[in-house]
Amino acid sequence: AHVDPTALTRSSTDTNHPRPSYNDTAKLSSNNWTFNKTLSNLIRQNILRFLDPERDISILKGTLKPGDIIHYVFDRHSTTNISENLYRLLPTVSPMKNQHHRRCAIVGNSGILLNSSCGPEIDSHDFVIRCNLAPVEEYSRDVGWRTNLVTMNPSVVQRAFQDLVSEEWRDRFLQRLRSLSGSVLWIPAFMAKGGEERVEWALRLILLHTVDVRTAFPSLRLLHAVRGYWLTNNVHIKRPTTGLLMYTMATRFCEEIHLYGFWPFPLDPQGKPVKYHYYDTLKYEYTSSSSPHTMPLEFRTLSTLHRQGALRLHTGTCD
Ligand code: CTP
Repeated sequence: AHVDPTALTRSSTDTNHPRPSYNDTAKLSSNNWTFNKTLSNLIRQNILRFLDPERDISILKGTLKPGDIIHYVFDRHSTTNISENLYRLLPTVSPMKNQHHRRCAIVGNSGILLNSSCGPEIDSHDFVIRCNLAPVEEYSRDVGWRTNLVTMNPSVVQRAFQDLVSEEWRDRFLQRLRSLSGSVLWIPAFMAKGGEERVEWALRLILLHTVDVRTAFPSLRLLHAVRGYWLTNNVHIKRPTTGLLMYTMATRFCEEIHLYGFWPFPLDPQGKPVKYHYYDTLKYEYTSSSSPHTMPLEFRTLSTLHRQGALRLHTGTCD
């Protein structure tokens, strides 16, 4: 499968913002789902033509030095420098090197998880991936607490931790980082301009308090490669969400992939309201035309893969 590289910068106008609808996606069969190993292997092989998640999950230390200039992936005309702290926290080998797991859970942040009682089921997976440092402690009954890898968009520092303005917020942030003990903290530091300081604050805290996390910074080619893979499968995604990035990468390390908390719609299948995030007050307008994401389109794609048995989407309760 070849991809026209110019297509990566084109945007499709028709599919970018389909109206959120749950009718066509509500009928996700969950009882008679069986894993389609053949299809899942095929998807892994196809994805490997575009990226190698083991490599692209992080830039390695040997490839950069402090002071090197990086062009942001989405803001090509803006640059940033590799700071001393970032350099110190670059891994020397891939944090996912030789990792293979039978069953992985990827936990999205939709409010569909509330009252799901899915916590124990999520935690029973061999490898658990979470997004954007979403809180677990207060929600563990529904979302579990185990975390092997968690992402952190720089904007999270502002949105969930008030830009660390006070001692109290710095403490809260530090507590959250400490609770990750041993996990991979995946920081897309070079995607969009504007997050430089936030990343730097986080890295400083990690170093100052010798927080036991394994930091990873995605390669500059990851985003384009992921888009390229989905484009050749006719899924025209402007900017893949963290959740889709995690699924695409997890195919490399995981046999069976189970998705929880993926539901980008304001109503559940029964018509009851669903919060955008299970833990905050962010609204659905957030994903409207101003957002670079195309979550409903991604969701339809994941639903198709669910029906084919390549992955399993869990959108109901777990008891
Ligand atoms: N997600 C979903 N339905 C929602 C909210 C989130 O399916 N109502 C999934 C998406 O795949 C998303 C992931 O859960 O990527 C994590 O949620 P969030 O932290 O909001 O994702 P981001 O992609 O990082 O969004 P943003 O770029 O706005 O920070």
